[in-house]
Amino acid sequence: MELIHTVAELRKYLRGVPNNVFVPTMGNLHEGHLRLVEEAAPRGACTVVSIFVNRMQFGPNEDFDRYPRTLADDCKKLESIDCDVVFAPDEKELYPEAQTYSVVPGDIEGILEGAVRPGHFRGVATVVLKLFNMVQPKAAVFGKKDYQQCLVLKNMVQQLALPVEIILAETVRAEDGLALSSRNQYLTDEQRAEAPRLYRVLNELKHALLHGTHAYATLEAEAMTELARHGWKPDYVTVRRRADLQPPSAAEKELVVLAAAKLGSPRLLDNVEVELA
Ligand code: PAF
Repeated sequence: MELIHTVAELRKYLRGVPNNVFVPTMGNLHEGHLRLVEEAAPRGACTVVSIFVNRMQFGPNEDFDRYPRTLADDCKKLESIDCDVVFAPDEKELYPEAQTYSVVPGDIEGILEGAVRPGHFRGVATVVLKLFNMVQPKAAVFGKKDYQQCLVLKNMVQQLALPVEIILAETVRAEDGLALSSRNQYLTDEQRAEAPRLYRVLNELKHALLHGTHAYATLEAEAMTELARHGWKPDYVTVRRRADLQPPSAAEKELVVLAAAKLGSPRLLDNVEVELA
């Protein structure tokens, strides 16, 4: 496995390997990331993982400074699976000058996560486009845990005609259902014990939808109340249509229920897809 820090070295290394599959990450890797790499490996001749904590996608009061940076540990984990290249640039390498050009995702950037974290998806799309230009992958793998991010990036690839196939991988969960996330380590023991409720509440809502309930607003309000009763501060629990994350009509079959809520200071995200008959 090669550890590469500069774009020049990366381009030199990849010159003879056009058929690569890419997994962009911010490091602090857990089982969920490793599954993305395992998803990537059989699809190309070379698997490239980037590790870069992207300041541009963090708000001024978010956790950019304390986001865990664990490159040595991450490399050990990647060494034990099928990863060929780790690209770990520093900020000067990724942003050698002030980034005045950016990718503007359109309507989707203002809803849900975008409403709570203004500018977040602009930051994500811009860094991913830059990374795509550096790595030039034939495909890239992202986790459905960040559902809105997946849609933003799929739309970007489609609208900008980028020659990259976007592969979406299922969310990896702990045995009690909690979606794996680097931010889970901010949870105290007590919060960690409470945290699986988010997935349970989403599944209860899914169950109601599968039983024919179309009263989305009532179901959403009940789910938010249930979370609040157990000490959560929900930003949203909402039923959306999968294609564009807009509110669905009663005839819509392909749904996703998305939630984001604070448990103390950690903020957790999760979602479940629902396919109506
Ligand atoms: O999902 C993430 O870890 C980040 O948003 C990404 C895609 C690596 C861009 O910084």
